[in-house]
Order: sequence, then C-alpha cells, then structure tokens
Amino acid sequence: MPKVKPKLKNLLSKLQQEKKIRDKASQPYPKKRPSSHVRPPRPPPYQPGDSILLIGEGNFSFARALAENVLHVGHLIIATTLDSEEIMSKKYDDARDHISAFLKCGGKVLYEVDGTQLSKCKGLKNKKFDKIVFNFPHAGAGIKDQDRNILANQKLIESFLNSAIPFLKSRALYSDSNDGEILITIKTGLPYDNWNIKKIIKSTGALAVRETLPFNVSQYPGYEHRRTLGFKGH
Ligand SMILES: C[S@@+](CC[C@H](N)C(=O)[O-])C[C@H]1O[C@@H](n2cnc3c(N)ncnc32)[C@H](O)[C@@H]1O
Repeated sequence: MPKVKPKLKNLLSKLQQEKKIRDKASQPYPKKRPSSHVRPPRPPPYQPGDSILLIGEGNFSFARALAENVLHVGHLIIATTLDSEEIMSKKYDDARDHISAFLKCGGKVLYEVDGTQLSKCKGLKNKKFDKIVFNFPHAGAGIKDQDRNILANQKLIESFLNSAIPFLKSRALYSDSNDGEILITIKTGLPYDNWNIKKIIKSTGALAVRETLPFNVSQYPGYEHRRTLGFKGH
C-alpha cells in the first residue's frame, strides 16, 4: 500500500503538467504591444552648402520648394528643363510664378537642357555638383505598348546617368560620404518596378546604389508633380 501513494502522486503531477501545457497552447497569441517610439521621418537628403543640379523640372515647383522651404536659399541650385521657355509656359501655366520665386532665392534656370546630353549644355561647362536630381523621369513618348514604354524609360535613365557622372564632384564608387550623388525619384508598383533601375545603375560601372529612401512630398511644401505632357498630359 505505501508504494501506491507515490505512484498516484506522480500520475497527478503528470496530469497537472499536461493540463498546463494544453491551457497555454489554447491561449490567444500575445499581441505585439504598440510601440511607444514612433520613428520620425528622415529629413530630406539635402544639406545647406550642397551644390545641386535639377534635371527635367516640370513647372519648377520642386526647385522653388527646395530653395524656399528646405534649404532657405537657392544660390547653389541650377534648375533645368528639357522644354524651351515658350513650350514650358504653354504646358504649365504656373511655371512662371514658381520660376520668379526660385530666382528671388538666388537660383538659376536653364532651358532646353537634355539630361542625356549634359556635356552639350554651355551653361554647365566646368561645373560640378554634390547632387544631381531627376524627379520622376519619364520619356513621355506616349508609347502604348508596355514593353516598349519600359524600354524607352530605361534608355532615358541609363543615358541620363552616363551623362551626369562627369558632373559629379566626386566620381569614386560609393566609398566615402563626400562622394557626389545622383538622386532619382520613381514611383513604385507596375510598370515602374519593371524599369529595374538598380540594374541600370550598376550597369554604368561607375555608380553604386547607396540607399533607397521614401519620397516624402510633405517635406517639399508647394511642390506639385507634373506630367511630361503638361496639364493635359496622360
Ligand atoms: C513625369 S514628368 C516629371 C516632371 C518633374 N520632374 C516633376 O517632378 O513634376 C517627367 C519629366 O522628364 C522630362 N524629361 C524627359 N526626357 C528628358 C530628357 N532627355 N532630358 C531632360 N528632361 C527630360 C520631361 O520633360 C518631364 O518634365
């Protein structure tokens, strides 16, 4: 008889242990506690003292926003458009206002600058920049065929990069924080993801992808994206 008691005790404790495991397993998965630490957005990637070349401006609202509201000065910024002054005014009826505000900040404007042939632009002769920026490049050729459209935009970006490299202050592969940078903003999703922009960057053999940042439009008050064909463009 005395030998039975410990056996019963063992069985009881085993049953209790099994129940504990079952109870734990049936409990709902603990919810992640909401983080009390909300990361503030990264500041725009521009520093006072940066010399900046803007390619493919639409209505010049980005140039204005950068000079007026981000850097609070524009004397180191050259903003360019592929269009002539006349065509630009027809396409974007707010461009003149933006340009005059940008010029007041000390900025410089150049017309008819082809981003794929920067060495042909007299106004850029012997100039070097810390940052060369092309926001939302788009060939705007109205090509309906998706594959040909992607190809046209890939060609634009590849030619732009190769044309811009000699205008960077430093042309070393990404190795130190003083390297010149090219900033390209593109939309995400299809068909843009199929542009394979990182592959194009690497194919230049002279550039490396430093990082990918979200483009936070609220950090550029006054900036309004414009399509290549103007207000009526598709
Ligand atoms: C979608 S719009 C974006 C305009 C402006 N960057 C913006 O963010 O509102 C595309 C721009 O790329 C420009 N573009 C296309 N091909 C170009 C080239 N070869 N050189 C310079 N700009 C070009 C067009 O003129 C147009 O202004």
